[in-house]
Amino acid sequence: MTNILLEKKGYIAVATINRPKALNALNSEVLSDLDELVATVKADDEIRALVITGSGEKAFVAGADIGEMSTLTKEGGTAFGKHGNDVFRAIETLPIPTIAAVNGFALGGGCELSMACDIRICADTAVFGQPETGLGITPGFGGTQRLARLVSPGMAKQLIYTAKNIKADEAYRIGLVNAVYPLEELMPAAEKLAETIAKNAPIAVRACKKAINDGLQVDMDKAIVIEEKLFGSCFQSADQIEGMSAFLEKRKHEPYQNK
Ligand code: CAA
Repeated sequence: MTNILLEKKGYIAVATINRPKALNALNSEVLSDLDELVATVKADDEIRALVITGSGEKAFVAGADIGEMSTLTKEGGTAFGKHGNDVFRAIETLPIPTIAAVNGFALGGGCELSMACDIRICADTAVFGQPETGLGITPGFGGTQRLARLVSPGMAKQLIYTAKNIKADEAYRIGLVNAVYPLEELMPAAEKLAETIAKNAPIAVRACKKAINDGLQVDMDKAIVIEEKLFGSCFQSADQIEGMSAFLEKRKHEPYQNK
């Protein structure tokens, strides 16, 4: 991957979008790198949680690449949007939990990348926004859909129609991020959160992610059936047997094995 650094630390991994000359903006090459990131993470059983951040102190991702988009035809725009949407959906449906550690500007495609992650935390210097209508386009990597689902539809519409950016405290107030940290504390906090998740039984954590994501797409009657099946699928796993035995024997469980 030319524009993404991937570092494994025990059972967690940190992916850093690294295109500093364009504030980590997403051109087709970075989108292809994200395709490769998804494939790499999926193929590695050791990775139990993934943190995504941006290189430098200024930007998480400053959006899709405006230079590349500026000359696209309708067909080219549709294809570019599809590439972004496909890879963001692949990130959203990665079996393991993902955390966006938003270290600065998260505009357009950057805000959308953070929303494709399970959890967003940010630095107090972070700025979020969907500036697309100011550029003559709609959000194109899922922003109209995920923002409306994550915050209220009315707030999503206000942010998207006005193209106005918001700071970290407002992102926290509207529920777009779970926590705000001083910039220097952001990555330690993100890694600690990922490690906390990685210590729990991975089969169960993955089942929870699937239950929440899939359940949100259907009505409650179908949703609880999704949970029932995933709940059942955890039984007789080595980690379930160890976790419950440890409780009953009043001892700390052994490290979970992902089995
Ligand atoms: N695309 C391409 N290049 C970008 C970029 C982007 N989205 N954002 C920043 N850059 C480039 C700048 O062109 C500049 O390059 P040069 O040094 O070669 O001129 C470099 O990054 C540094 O940027 P600035 O000089 O503009 O830095 P700044 O501190 O003055 O401003 C900023 C920072 C407010 C983030 C500003 O760069 C900005 O507004 N960027 C664009 C943000 C944006 O509109 N994003 C949405 C894009 S549309 C989209 O994402 C559609 C979609 O949903 C798929």
